[in-house]
Amino acid sequence: MADINLIIIGPPGAGKGTQAAFLCREQNIPHISTGDMFRLAVKNATLLGLAAKSYMDRGELVPDEVTIGIVRERLSEKDVAKGFLLDGFPRTTVQAAALEEVLLSLGREITLVINVVVPEAELIRRLTGRLVCRSCGATYHRVFNLSPGGEVCGICRGELYQRSDDSEETALSRLAVYQRQTAPLLDYYAASGKLRNIDGLKPIAEVTAELRAVLAAKGT
Ligand code: AP5
Ligand code: MG
Ligand code: ZN
Repeated sequence: MADINLIIIGPPGAGKGTQAAFLCREQNIPHISTGDMFRLAVKNATLLGLAAKSYMDRGELVPDEVTIGIVRERLSEKDVAKGFLLDGFPRTTVQAAALEEVLLSLGREITLVINVVVPEAELIRRLTGRLVCRSCGATYHRVFNLSPGGEVCGICRGELYQRSDDSEETALSRLAVYQRQTAPLLDYYAASGKLRNIDGLKPIAEVTAELRAVLAAKGT
């Protein structure tokens, strides 16, 4: 079977990480989230973490050369052989061009780019109410997606915390950065015929169902 190389794109809070978790489990492909990679590096206080932290705290993008470097390395690992899902990358035209180049050198190409569409007012509600498990990274929401474990993670009983960039102020800067630097990529992928828009305003399970249908239509 052909490899399945997916990108999930959309503004902060659209539900990329939430849907990526389902999709990767079902398709048995690795979930490559640059945001998660940076957060792990910050937690472990590595050089990468130190380099990324100030940008993340301001809601700005980490410089392209840093981000491209970690993705290039990640895509050289064995577990991506049957495919991968990129979540939060590429986010600039420079990153998109670098990704093309990396994939070309590997003799591979993007299968589909899934764009999760959600209006801005809803995004702020989602971001400011989000809770994340400190141990396994599972994502919940104080109102829209309660943890079955109550105060703790429903999967591993880990502690739930609010991401430091989920304050209203930083969320607003992230949305502005998305509009300025990432939204232009949509035209680029639309022109390639690979872009599929998904209505991300529906309940989580309905969004997942729409995603499955899009993948099935592509024959994956
Ligand atoms: P990153 O971690 O990628 O954050 P983001 O793009 O801002 O996206 P989020 O993770 O906030 O949103 P999501 O779409 O994953 O939503 P989720 O599923 O959690 O990046 C963080 C930072 O790292 C960046 O600001 C930057 O500094 C740096 N960075 C990362 N990648 C980079 C790159 N390529 N280049 C440069 N810098 C980079 O859902 C959100 C909430 O909504 C949750 O509470 C969830 O439970 C709830 N929810 C989900 N779906 C629904 C639904 N359908 N209905 C109701 N609630 C829902
Ligand atoms: Mg995410
Ligand atoms: Zn957990």
